[in-house]
Amino acid sequence: MKKILLLGDVHANYPALKAIEKYINPAGFDCIINTGDFTVYGPFPNETIQWFRDKGKCISILGNTDQRVLRILKGKRLKRPKKEEKRVMYFWTSEILLPENISYLKSLSEQTGFFWGNIGIGVFHGTIDDPDEALFPFSPEARFHQLAKASPYQMQIMGNSHVPYYKIVDGIHFINPGSAGRMFDGDPRASFAVLELSSDGICVEHFRISYPVEETVKGLKDHQLPDIYAKMFREGRKLN
Ligand SMILES: [Fe+2]
Repeated sequence: MKKILLLGDVHANYPALKAIEKYINPAGFDCIINTGDFTVYGPFPNETIQWFRDKGKCISILGNTDQRVLRILKGKRLKRPKKEEKRVMYFWTSEILLPENISYLKSLSEQTGFFWGNIGIGVFHGTIDDPDEALFPFSPEARFHQLAKASPYQMQIMGNSHVPYYKIVDGIHFINPGSAGRMFDGDPRASFAVLELSSDGICVEHFRISYPVEETVKGLKDHQLPDIYAKMFREGRKLN
């Protein structure tokens, strides 16, 4: 049996990541899959990236926020997002990232895929077509059929929407673990999933766990980051 920890959209919320680690003990897993968005909106981008770097058996991709940070670091103009409170977080992140963590992000791809035995697993931030696309459990069924028809993999692990789901469409398993560090549904708890592959089949379980939100809020205050983020983390809502 293979046991895989599915994480994504941590968004520099290291206290949430540590709480997941304490709850689940990643050492007991064959592998960790991370669907990207390590950085931006939370105050601990270096600690978050370092955590993944320290895990030996980790498959990570870049999210759209990470890609924008890398674009800033290349000296390119940031066209989106337009809102000032978002731009502040992008520029602050690009300034505080340590060289070794920038190198690590640069080493990652926008998507990846691998085979475990005869099971193919694709890892995407948005979808296989577009890292900015956000799929929800209530997204049009036609879109899932389209993705299933063209899928080179039996399983597609995705993030970006920050909404946990598990759907099987035309035999293809679509899994989003939800956001470990920045939930939007009014429940501030960290979200993640556990995937088990065995001769009996495929099993997916989602989790929501509490974490010390005030540690994240303190991190924001220590760096004089916009107050709106403290409210967002406390309430588990997207207010920016
Ligand atoms: Fe995200």
